[in-house]
Amino acid sequence: MIFRQLFDQTSSTYSYLLASRRGGEALIIDPVLEKVDRYLQLVAELDLKLVKAVDTHIHADHITGLGALRDRTHCITVMGENAKVDVVSMRVTEGDKLTIEGLALDVLYTPGHTDDSYSFLTNDRVFTGDTLLIRGTGRTDFQNGSARAQYESLFGKLLKLPEDTLVFPAHDYKGDTVSTIGEEKRCNPRLQVKSVDEYVDLMSKLKLANPKMMDVAVPANMRQGLAQDEIARKGWAVMPAQAFALVGKPNVALIDLRERPEREKHGVIPSSLHAPYPDLQENIRPGGMLHELATATGKRIVFYCAFGERSAMAVQAAQDAGIDSACHIHGGLDAWRKANGPLAR
Ligand SMILES: [Fe+2]
Repeated sequence: MIFRQLFDQTSSTYSYLLASRRGGEALIIDPVLEKVDRYLQLVAELDLKLVKAVDTHIHADHITGLGALRDRTHCITVMGENAKVDVVSMRVTEGDKLTIEGLALDVLYTPGHTDDSYSFLTNDRVFTGDTLLIRGTGRTDFQNGSARAQYESLFGKLLKLPEDTLVFPAHDYKGDTVSTIGEEKRCNPRLQVKSVDEYVDLMSKLKLANPKMMDVAVPANMRQGLAQDEIARKGWAVMPAQAFALVGKPNVALIDLRERPEREKHGVIPSSLHAPYPDLQENIRPGGMLHELATATGKRIVFYCAFGERSAMAVQAAQDAGIDSACHIHGGLDAWRKANGPLAR
C-alpha cells in the first residue's frame, strides 16, 4: 500500500494519501486548501490517479481542499450523510465501504466532536478525524458537538477496535504522528474516565478559545458544490420533472454514473444503463461504449449520479469528446427522488 501522512503547519492538520499501488487510484482524507499544489505534485510523482477526496467532518480551523481537488482533477468529493455541506459527489454512512482500486475503507459514524464526524477503517489503521486524537479527543463545544455522543463513539466504537490498530488523527499539536488503540486506552488522559457523566464533566471544563479561522472556514466548508448552474447555462441540464418524460424513450440513453453499492442502496432510474464514473474517459473517447452509442444510434446521452456533481463533470467531458447531445439531470437522483421520480431496484 502507498500511504503518506501530510502535514499543514498553519492548522496542524494531517492529511492522508492512500493507494494500493503505483500507477493506481488514490484517495485523500482531510486535504487542506493551501496544500493542494503539494498533494497534486506528490500524486504525479507517485504516478497516481486521484479519484476521491474525503473529509471526516466540516472543519472549523482550515478550508478544505475538496472543491479545489475536484476542480483540478475531476475526482469525486465524499462526506458523511450528516455533513451540512451543500453538495458533495457522494455521501456515505455507517456500514458503507469507501472504495478505490485495491482498497476498501469501512465507514464508521463517530459523532461528538461534531454531529457530522466519521471515521474510516482499513485492515490495520483507522482515520479518526477529530474524534480520537493522540492523547486527546476533539472538542465538543461547537458545531453541534456533544460530549455524550463522543463518549459513545469512543467507548462504543473506536476503542473496541483491536488494540494494535494504528490511530491516524486529523490533527496533532505536539508533533506526534501515530498511535494505537491500545496505547490510547492506557495513556490518553481523556479516556481514563469511569462513566459518561465523568467524561461530559471533563469536556465541559476545557474552556477553549474558538479556532482563529472558524468564522471563515465553517461557512466556506459548507459550500463545496460544483457550480452546476454553469452546465445549466450552457443548456446541458434537464430538471428532474422534465426528465421523467425521458424514461423509456427510444432515442434517449439514461446513463447512471454511480457505483454499484449506491445503486443497490438508493435504486435506479428505470431503463437506465450503468457506466460508472471511474470508467468515463474510456467510455467517451472514440470507440468507447458511450461514444459509439451516441454516434452509431444517435441516442441522446443523459447522465445522472447521486447529486449532479459527477454527471456535471461527465457532461463537460463528453461534450469535449465530441458527444454534443450529452446532458445531465440537474441535482442527480437526490433531486429526482424529491420530485417523486419513479425508481427501480
Ligand atoms: Fe474539527
